[in-house]
Amino acid sequence: MAKKMLQSWQGTLAVIGVDWGDSGKGRLTDDLGARADIIARFNGGANTGHTVENQYGKFALHIIPSGIFNQKAKCLVGRNVAVDLESLVLEMSALTKAGVSYKNLLIDEQASLVMPWHKMRDGLREKLRSAKIGTTGRGVGPAYADRTERVGLLVKDLLKPDFAGKIEEEVKIQNKFYDLNLNAKEIVRRYQKYQTKVKNFIGKTTLIIREAQKAKKNILFEGAQGYFLDIDAGTYPYVTSSNPGVVGIARSFDIHTSEINEVIGITKAYTTRVGEGPMPTKITGEVGRKIVDVGREVGTTTGRERAVGWLDSVLIKEAARANKLTALAVTKLDVLTNISKLKLCISYELNGKSMDYIGHDAEFLSKVRPVYKEVGGWAEDISSLRSFADLPKNAQNYIRVIEKITKVPVKFISVGPKRGEIIYL
Ligand code: IMP
Ligand code: MG
Repeated sequence: MAKKMLQSWQGTLAVIGVDWGDSGKGRLTDDLGARADIIARFNGGANTGHTVENQYGKFALHIIPSGIFNQKAKCLVGRNVAVDLESLVLEMSALTKAGVSYKNLLIDEQASLVMPWHKMRDGLREKLRSAKIGTTGRGVGPAYADRTERVGLLVKDLLKPDFAGKIEEEVKIQNKFYDLNLNAKEIVRRYQKYQTKVKNFIGKTTLIIREAQKAKKNILFEGAQGYFLDIDAGTYPYVTSSNPGVVGIARSFDIHTSEINEVIGITKAYTTRVGEGPMPTKITGEVGRKIVDVGREVGTTTGRERAVGWLDSVLIKEAARANKLTALAVTKLDVLTNISKLKLCISYELNGKSMDYIGHDAEFLSKVRPVYKEVGGWAEDISSLRSFADLPKNAQNYIRVIEKITKVPVKFISVGPKRGEIIYL
C-alpha cells in the first residue's frame, strides 16, 4: 500500500467504528471527505451524533452526513437510515446559519421515518425493562421494528397527497396499541412544515451510487455507531437496531461488500461505551476520571457521561476480520498524554482458557477477564506534531503495538480536535 494512502484515496472507501461508537467518524469523514465525489450515510438515525469542528464552526450532526462541508460532493442518506425529520430540519438551519449550503443533500425515498410515537415507545419500553439498554431515546429501535413489521411510514410518503391521512390512520393505531395520547392534527401540522423544508431533497440514492461506480467516482461510505453495537454481531440486547459494519452498506445501497476498496476501522486510542452493556476493559478511579475530563467523554446526542476503558484489541481484531479492514484510524491519542503506564487488552480469558470474541453474547463479554500488555506513556504535548517520526518513542510504540496485535496498519492518527490536527502514515 502506498504511503499516506488516506491522503490520496480513490474509488470506494468506508469508515466504520470498530468499538461502541463515538470514535471520531465525523471528523475523519470531514477530513477524507475533501476527496469524495459522494459521501453516503448508511445506517442508524438521530441516535448518532457526529461532532465536526472546522472553519465554519462546531456542529453536531445526527442525520446529515459529516461530508456536507465538502460543497462539491453529493451527500446521500441511505435507505436503511432511520430518518428523524425533527433533527434533520434543525441541522439544516444550523448549516444555513453558518453559511454552509446543503443543496447537494439527497435522502432516499425508501428510508423509514422516525415518528413521535417511536420516541414515546422507546422511552416507555426503557422504563418497563428490567435490564435497561440505555438507548438514546431517539425512537430508532421502534422505527426499525416498524420497518421490519412493514407498517412504518417512509420518506416518500411525505410527497404523497394523502400524507396527512396516513398520519391520522397510524396515530389511531398507535394510540390504541400503546395507550398513547397522540394528537394527530398537531403531528400533521408539524410534519407539513418539515415536508416544505425537505421535499426538494428526496430521491433514489441507489441509482446515484450505481452511476458513480460506473463513472469511477470517489465514494465515501460513512457509518454510524460501531461494529459492536450491531443488532446481530453485538452484545444483544445491548446494541442498536441497525448494522454499523460493512453489511449496512449493502443494505442501504445494494452494492457487494467486495466492491469497497478500502475499509477504515476507526477507534479512539482508548475505548468508550455509552448506555448499558458489558465492557471488559473498563477503567475506574483516577485514570478513568482523567480520560473522561481530558477527552470530554460526554455523549453528543444525550449528554450522558461515557464509560472509558483501555484499548481492546480483541474487539478490533474481530471487527477487522468480519469487515476486512484495510486500515485503522486511531483518534484522540493526545488524550493519553501524561498517563505514565498504559494498558492494551491483548486477549480474553474465561475459565482459564484464552478466548476470542463471540457475537451476540452479552453474557460471554460480561464474564471474560481482559489480559493486558503494559507499555510506557509520554508526557510531551503531541497536538502540534504532524509526522509519526516526531511522536515520543512511547507514543510510536503504542501505535506499533496496536498494529502488531490487530495486524492492520494504522494510517491516520488524530492528536487534537481541530481539522488538520492529524498525522497521516
Ligand atoms: P439506540 O440506538 O438509541 O436504541 O441505543 C442502543 C444502544 O446503542 C445504547 O447503549 C446507546 O447508548 C448506543 N448508541 C446508539 N447510538 C450510538 C452512537 O452513535 N454512539 C454511541 N453509542 C450509541
Ligand atoms: Mg457519537
